[in-house]
Amino acid sequence: MSKNLDVIITKNETETHAALEAFKLKNPNAIIGFVPTMGALHEGHLSLIREAKNQCDFVVCSIFVNPTQFNNADDLKRYPRTIEADQVLLESVACDLLLVPTVDAVYPSGVPAYEIDLEGLDQGMEGQFRPGHFKGVCMVVERLFAMVLPQKGFFGAKDFQQLAVIRKMKAVRNLPIEIIGVTIKRAENGLALSSRNALLSDEERENAQLIYRALEAGVDFGQMNRNSTDIVAKIQSFFTGTDFEVEYIAIVDNDTLLTVDAVNENATICIVVYYRNVRLIDNIPFIFKTSAVS
Ligand code: PAJ
Repeated sequence: MSKNLDVIITKNETETHAALEAFKLKNPNAIIGFVPTMGALHEGHLSLIREAKNQCDFVVCSIFVNPTQFNNADDLKRYPRTIEADQVLLESVACDLLLVPTVDAVYPSGVPAYEIDLEGLDQGMEGQFRPGHFKGVCMVVERLFAMVLPQKGFFGAKDFQQLAVIRKMKAVRNLPIEIIGVTIKRAENGLALSSRNALLSDEERENAQLIYRALEAGVDFGQMNRNSTDIVAKIQSFFTGTDFEVEYIAIVDNDTLLTVDAVNENATICIVVYYRNVRLIDNIPFIFKTSAVS
C-alpha cells in the first residue's frame, strides 16, 4: 500500500481491505462509496466521485481496464491509459482511495467461469453488438465489489444499459449495496464526455456534437410524432452523407430495455456511432415538452 499525495493507493484485495479496516476502526459507522472506472478520467468520472463524496464518508475509485468486457482486441489495446493524470484528478476531488489492480489481482485463478441471468436486459443494443460484454462487466463489478465491500456504488447514466444491468445484477445476486445512477456530464457543445473522446482531435470533438444535436432533434420530433420508426429515421438523417457511421439507434423502455413502437415518458433514445473509428455512445431520456402558454 502506498500513499501518494492524499489518495491511498492499493493494488489488490488484501491491501484494500486493510486500508478500509483501518478507516472503519476509527469511523465505525462510515458509509463506503465506490466508483469503478477504467481510467482516462474526465469530468464525467469526477461527477461520480463528487456525488459519492456528498453521500459517503470514504470514497474508493478503481481504475482497471477489464479485458473480459472487450470483444475487440484492438479496442482494448487502444483504450487510453493516463494513470498519472488520473491520480492528480482524483486528488483534486479528494478521493480517499484508488484501487489499481493488475489482471492477476482481479482474476487470481484466471478468468473464472461466470454465469448470470440478467433477464434479457443484456440482450439488445450493446449486448447485440458486443456479445459477452455485459457478462464481462458483471464479472468484474461483482469482483470489485468484493474487493471494496462498499455500501453504495455509483454508475453513470451515460452507459444507460450498463446502469440497468448493474441494478439487475444487484437484485439477482441480492447484493447488500445501493446502486446510485448519476446524470450524463457533457462538454459545452453537448458531446457526452468519454474516455474515448481522447482519441479524437479538437476539431473532431467539435464535429461530434452532431450526436447530441441528433438526439435532441429526435426528442423534438417525438413531440408531434410518437412513432419510434419515424423518430429513428429522423435521427439517422443527421448522419446520412457524413463521416459518422451509425451502429444502432434504439428507443427502449426504461425498465425492460425492449424497443417501443411509440415513445412515452418511460422511454430512452440510445445511440452508438462510429466516428473516425472511435465508438461513441450516448442517450437521451424522452420527455414531452410542455409549451409555454401565457
Ligand atoms: P468507464 O467507461 O471508465 O466509466 C466509469 C463510470 O463512469 C461508468 O459508470 C460510466 O457510466 C461513468 N461515466 C463515463 N462517462 C460519463 C459521463 N460523461 N457522465 C456521467 N458518467 C459517466 O463503465 C466502465 O468504465 C466499466 O464498464 C466499469 C463499470 C468500470 C466496469 O469495468
